[in-house]
Parts: sequence; C-alpha cells; structure tokens
Amino acid sequence: MHIRPAKLVRGAIALPGDKSISHRAAIIAAMADGETRIDNFASSVDCAATLECLKKLGVRIRQEGATVWVVGVGKSGFQAPDKPLDCGNSGTTMRLMAGVLAGQEFETVLTGDASLRQRPMKRVIEPLSRMGARFESAEGKAPLTIYGRNPLKSTEYHLPIASAQIKSSILLAGLNSDGETAVVENVPTRDHTERMLRWFGVDVRETGSGGVKKISLTGEERLSAAQLFIPSDISSAAFFIVAALGLAGSTLSMQNVGLNPTRTGVIEALTLFGADIRRVNRREVNNEPVGDILVAGDLAAASEKVLRGGLIANLIDELPILAILGTQLESGLEVRDAGELRVKETDRIAAVVENLRRMSADVEEFDDGFRVGKSQLKGARVDSYGDHRIAMAFSIAGLLATGGATEIDGAECVDVSFPGFFETLQNVVVYE
Ligand code: S3P
Repeated sequence: MHIRPAKLVRGAIALPGDKSISHRAAIIAAMADGETRIDNFASSVDCAATLECLKKLGVRIRQEGATVWVVGVGKSGFQAPDKPLDCGNSGTTMRLMAGVLAGQEFETVLTGDASLRQRPMKRVIEPLSRMGARFESAEGKAPLTIYGRNPLKSTEYHLPIASAQIKSSILLAGLNSDGETAVVENVPTRDHTERMLRWFGVDVRETGSGGVKKISLTGEERLSAAQLFIPSDISSAAFFIVAALGLAGSTLSMQNVGLNPTRTGVIEALTLFGADIRRVNRREVNNEPVGDILVAGDLAAASEKVLRGGLIANLIDELPILAILGTQLESGLEVRDAGELRVKETDRIAAVVENLRRMSADVEEFDDGFRVGKSQLKGARVDSYGDHRIAMAFSIAGLLATGGATEIDGAECVDVSFPGFFETLQNVVVYE
C-alpha cells in the first residue's frame, strides 16, 4: 500500500462496529437461552473467528450484512467440536472462549495463527485451572487443550495484569461455577463484559473503594436473549482523529461511536495535547454510552507530554497512533508503563520505534514504552509486522509526511479490525 502526503481530511466517516463489544455480544448471546439479534456487528476478521468457533461448538448463527442472529444454547449447552477451534489472530477470542470452555464437560483445542501462538496464555490458564479446568499447552502458548468441568469451583481472583481479557475470561467461567466468582482489579479496564452480561439479565455486582474494584457474579445466573446495537469502534476512530489533528484545516465527523469511559482515554489524552474534540448527541444503547464525534484540525499547546500509570490500560490499543501524533507535538510525547504492548499482535514498542526511525523521526525506545520528539516525518518503506494497528497508524503517518509516498508492507492485515480502512481513508483525504 502506498500513502501519499495529504493536505487535509474532510467529511463524515462510517466506522465498523466495535470489535471488543462484538466478541462479547456473540459469546454471551451463545450462552443465553433464546435468539439474540445483533445489529452493526463488527466486520472485523477477528470477530468472524469468534462466530466460526461458536458455530463449531453447535451454536446456530445466521448473518446478513452487519446483522447477526445467534440462537443461544445456554451457558453449559455447547457441543464438543470435532476439530481444533481456530481463533486466527484474535487474543480476545482465545482468552474469552477459554473461560467459556473451562465450564463445558468436554475437551477442546484452541489454536490460532503464528502471532497468536506466540502470545501469553498462562494469564488465563492459571486462574481457570484454579477453578478446576485442566489445560495442556507448551509453555503456556497455544495450541491449548482444555478439559472443562461443570460446575467449576468459584474463586476470587486478583488481576496481576490490568487486562479486560483475563477479567472477562474468569467472569464467563464464573457463570458455570458452584458459588460466587469475583475478580478484583486495581486499575480499571474496559467493562464491556460486565455491561453486556447485565443486558442479558445477569446480576453483576461491583463493590470497592480507592480505585480497587471487586466484580462478582454467581453460577446461579441464567442469561436471556436480547436485542443489541453495537456502537462504532472508538479504537478505529482514533486513526482518523489523529489524521485530522495532524493536518491543519481538517474537519471530520463520526456517528454512533462507543464512548464507554473505560475506552475514551484516547480522547482525554488528545484533549490534554491541545485537541478540539467534541462529543455530541450522547446517549446509551444496551448499557453502552454512545455519541457522535466532531474533530477539527490544529492543536493548541499541550499541557501534558507523558502518558503513564493507570491511564495506560484505558488507551492501550491507541498507543501506536498516539506515537504518530507525538511527532506533531511541540513537547513530543513519552509513554511509560506500557510493557503490555510487547505482547500484542506484534511487539508494538519495537514496531513503532523501528518504523518511526525509518521515517526519520526522533525516537527513543524503553522496555516499557517510548519517547518521540517533534519531527518532520519523511515518506519511507515501513512494515506492518502483520499487525492491523501498526498498518493503520503508519498509514496516517504517511499522510503527515513529506518527501514522497510511504510504502506499507503487509497492509492487508487492517482487515483484522477494519476491512475497508483504506477506502474510508481515501474518501476523506484531500491532496491539494
Ligand atoms: C481487549 C482487551 C485488551 C486490548 C484488546 C482487546 C478486550 O487486551 O488490548 O485489543 O476486548 O478485552 P488485554 O486484556 O490483554 O489488555
């Protein structure tokens, strides 16, 4: 893919349904009694992998465009698959499905592509084993063989890593446990699972103080089918927002974007960096805050130049594109406490640093993050490393560059979260 330097971006953008929420909608609908209709289901390849896994477990699923109907089998009514389940590139599919399968009385193998088979799974194996499921894996990496049991033993688990995938995996397993299962988090992580379970009638309780939150449910709960509309994905919006901020004179609007406060860290951070981002027409759909986003180009002076600590979990997927924005800020940008980036679809710290260097940026690498100084990016050949968010972040970098086109190797991986990304970009870019 070749990206030419642009003058500005302008127009209205239709974004795909949120990937995180779509995974949960499909999985939780499959655990319910009755048929659920899901509108604006994510077009992402990752979410298609979740649907395929569920079908192989005996769930009847029908799809027409962005509408999906799921006939639930009940929380322990899945059927043993005759083959390994392929989670593709999707960590969310593997970790959440591990929680569901831990409570099914049969053996399943979960596998995935070369990237997913390198990613750490001990983080779910450990708590789910404590609940009584048995796992076989080589060094905590997929393929994972899961020997489920029902009921599981209830547990209280303190998250050692700020991860919504681990939290969700345990809560889904908890639905098949023999008592109250609780997850304690010190840092807030995205709470789509809790909101979605409540929408399906589950009593998910939250207690806590001083930033420590205990989320609990019991194995008595049953889930009832529901109707859902999936908001547009704020993580996909972030690429376009940064394009507008980096190109003076730009104006963009995006409708029905998910504005869950555990996901809007990117907007909060960009506002600290001097951005003018308005959230209008705010409302709730199926327990999720939603609204329209209006963004105008140009950045005022930044009041902050370091992102670290508890904020990181709230914008973890947006850090590659925030690195690109950092090259446009007078103050530059430093990101710390983000070691988790090293175990995403690729090592995103290494990928960001290497590609920014190729584009002549001033950049420094840390174990747990990076620092970028204000830089004039130059068109260059960069690599997606097979990671959708790296491909999209460097597409935006290409728009902001001078001195010729940016060539992105392996750009087709954008389909993992945003099929049609390049067409959408093309529709709003003005070159002269
Ligand atoms: C996700 C949680 C985050 C995020 C990922 C999606 C989810 O991962 O990076 O893209 O849907 O729960 P972790 O739970 O590993 O932090």
